Amino acid sequence: MELGVIGAGYVGLTTAACFAHLGHRVVCADIDAAHVERLSAGDVGIAEPGLTELVVSGLESGRLRFVTEPVAAVDADIVFICVGTPPDSDGAADLSAIKSVVRTIAPVLRRDAVLVTKSTVPVGSAQMVNSLIPERDDIAVVSNPEFLREGHAVDDFLEPSRVVVGGDIPAARARVADLYTDLQAPVLVTDPASAELVKYATNAFLATKISFANAIANVCEAVGADIRQVGLGMGHDPRIGFDHLEAGPGFGGSCLPKDVSALLHFAREAGYDFALLRGVLEVNDEQRARVVTKVRALAGGDLGGVSIGVLGLAFKAGTDDLRDSPALAVVASLVAEGAAVKAFDPAVDAVDLPISVVKDPYEAARDAAVLVVLTEWAEFRSVDYERVATEMKHAVVVDARNLLNPDTMRRQGFEYVGVGR
Ligand code: UDX
Repeated sequence: MELGVIGAGYVGLTTAACFAHLGHRVVCADIDAAHVERLSAGDVGIAEPGLTELVVSGLESGRLRFVTEPVAAVDADIVFICVGTPPDSDGAADLSAIKSVVRTIAPVLRRDAVLVTKSTVPVGSAQMVNSLIPERDDIAVVSNPEFLREGHAVDDFLEPSRVVVGGDIPAARARVADLYTDLQAPVLVTDPASAELVKYATNAFLATKISFANAIANVCEAVGADIRQVGLGMGHDPRIGFDHLEAGPGFGGSCLPKDVSALLHFAREAGYDFALLRGVLEVNDEQRARVVTKVRALAGGDLGGVSIGVLGLAFKAGTDDLRDSPALAVVASLVAEGAAVKAFDPAVDAVDLPISVVKDPYEAARDAAVLVVLTEWAEFRSVDYERVATEMKHAVVVDARNLLNPDTMRRQGFEYVGVGR
């Protein structure tokens, strides 16, 4: 097939590279000319396992091309819209980029092409896109949400847990579903609204699981239980499962917080107050604040002028992404209370906060009154904590990811505080 992909961010780039890998001819457009130039030279610019290899082999085979003009990408059978839908001030998804793309490409779409929304868009967006192009009644709009985790985007695309294709026109749905037949995943064909809601419902459920685990962790702290053991005991129940049950500093990233807010918003607009999700966000905010409270208490009740070492800035391990990172939120609060922060993250060189980003964990720990672990990088487990202790003013650690072994840390002379244990 000839495919067009509009937007070369995480979703667009992964979609374009994976479809080229599956043998389709793909043209991917992005308005950022410098990004397009780098992509055309095989430089993907994000830390996503396997993506560089697929982009390079796509370019070499001639099946993948990058262009700056959306209209240059849409001489295709199927066009995927993968532009951003950032939250606006009241949490609703901002659809202006999608609307602008659709208006721009509508006149040049091939006759009978299928237009696919892959960006996470509120229920009703497929219908909205349709209504933007009344002059193109030959074009079918189909919703095909993505479920790509950062750090696993290529695997999640090529080995999906399921594929969801929503649309009103059976032939158009079938053309999109056919693209995925080689992947041997269940393909769910639905109406457009259901496909759009599956994405929000999934991410909101994952966020709910995390907030639930965090709330139980807080109960553990109050009653003297251990969230690790409680989580294992719950996770063995196949109806619950282990995933997204890790307590920590709350969920972040480019999807979960944004999708929960957007679902809350459009449910309210549609007449349903999704009170449960308000609780999910409340626990999430509280969770970040609780880390700061622990650090403050261990620093003697006042963070003014206190040196704090931080391990981890990315919103989760395996990525350099800082979007809505709980680690950054915690660091911002520490700084606001007057702390001097030195932070180390294996994937991050700089942040937009008045802190020092240093080159190794030992430098982060130097002279610190408290060390805080904020991202669950596995390599933080193999740090030489005896050496860390000698670098620090006081050997005190707040392990906001429950990454370290409390007994081992205590044996090495640390005062250890985790989450819910
Ligand atoms: C998420 C969804 O998992 C993916 O399917 C979707 O389509 C895009 O959004 P992603 O944002 O990459 O993916 O991250 P995810 O692994 O879900 O983690 C989100 C946040 O929750 C991170 O801050 C992570 O640290 C946190 N988290 C995750 C927990 O605090 N506990 C957990 O048990 C799992």
